[in-house]
Amino acid sequence: MVVQSDNALMKIALESAWAYQGLTFPNPAVGAVLSDDNGNIISVGAHKAAGFPHAEVETLKSAYIKLTGDKRLEKIQNSADIHAFLSSHHNGVFSQLSLHVTLEPCHHHGKTPPCSQLIKMLGIKKVVIGSRDLSVHAQGGGAFLESNGVKVVWDCLRNECDELLSPFLAWQNHQPFIFFKLALSKNGVASGGIITSEASRTMVHHLRDKCDLLVIGGNTVRTDRPLLDARLCDGSAPDVLIYSRQNDFDVSIPLFNVKNRKVLIENSLKKLQQYKMIMIEGGQEMIKSVENSVQWYLVFTSPHFKEGNKVTLPSHLREVFFQKIGEDTMTWYKKDA
Ligand SMILES: NC(=O)c1ccc[n+]([C@@H]2O[C@H](COP(=O)([O-])OP(=O)(O)OC[C@H]3O[C@@H](n4cnc5c(N)ncnc54)[C@H](OP(=O)(O)O)[C@@H]3O)[C@@H](O)[C@H]2O)c1
Repeated sequence: MVVQSDNALMKIALESAWAYQGLTFPNPAVGAVLSDDNGNIISVGAHKAAGFPHAEVETLKSAYIKLTGDKRLEKIQNSADIHAFLSSHHNGVFSQLSLHVTLEPCHHHGKTPPCSQLIKMLGIKKVVIGSRDLSVHAQGGGAFLESNGVKVVWDCLRNECDELLSPFLAWQNHQPFIFFKLALSKNGVASGGIITSEASRTMVHHLRDKCDLLVIGGNTVRTDRPLLDARLCDGSAPDVLIYSRQNDFDVSIPLFNVKNRKVLIENSLKKLQQYKMIMIEGGQEMIKSVENSVQWYLVFTSPHFKEGNKVTLPSHLREVFFQKIGEDTMTWYKKDA
């Protein structure tokens, strides 16, 4: 049975995962918390990118270093090597601890070994699971742990944990995950050049690196003459779809001259269905034009004022996650209606 303290710990696991939302694509964002019997948190971890250690492994790694003072594990980054190290060095330090994880631990050999085996081997006492893993290849971790004597609690903050999986579930269902990214000044202005700090812009570039399509309006292309690449993180630039009623653009605009990039000019959004992870950037008219195709909004807000018109966001936006990023804030919203 899920108890109040499980919800509190799962909320922390959720927060740690949301900080990497989009960056783990096409893997799910996942967070985990390891705690003792009194609810004291030993460590918190998140899955940071596809091919990187799963959230459980990050959490167990930090806990091991904290509990034993053995710093040899700090240098080990590869998931299989962390599994091997923990398996042979744990010395029972995990046996009285509980793990709260937003997604059922995986039970298959993918890019990383199965978390279910590691959790069992370390003797974790209780595992609290948010979302159930429904993927054909990875499911079964919870049942495996139960059958090996681990106490498993299911469905803790299940709705919130399922919501965290939105991009991953879209990918599994062969549908695009579409979000609108917006940078705003403190007084809600979205136009007039750079608005947010380098930390926010670097995060946007990391997200562009994971996207296969960036949608931009014709007016922004003409006004800003943008490059729209991922240079701040040395990432790869996504293809660009210019949403416009006109066909003719000045091809000396930098976005047209990025290597290995396709630029489409379209007067409809139909082609979005051919892509997997799509970021839309734009101003007030763009917000209105794509409102029916967008459910997720990622808003970066600067602490500085700017002259210009205040942007109006769609109504019924619910704040799902909020964090500081550099001097700015970063908020994920979901449109509920
Ligand atoms: N703060 C931010 O995150 C951010 C990001 C990007 C841009 N901006 C700013 O936003 C301002 C521009 O905003 P905006 O909303 O006016 O322009 P926009 O982002 O370019 O979006 C509007 C454009 O979308 C196209 N469009 C709209 N409805 C359409 C339809 N039914 N069919 C085809 N195309 C359609 C039109 O392009 P055509 O006119 O070519 O037909 C229109 O100019 C600029 O100042 C820019 O700097 C801010």
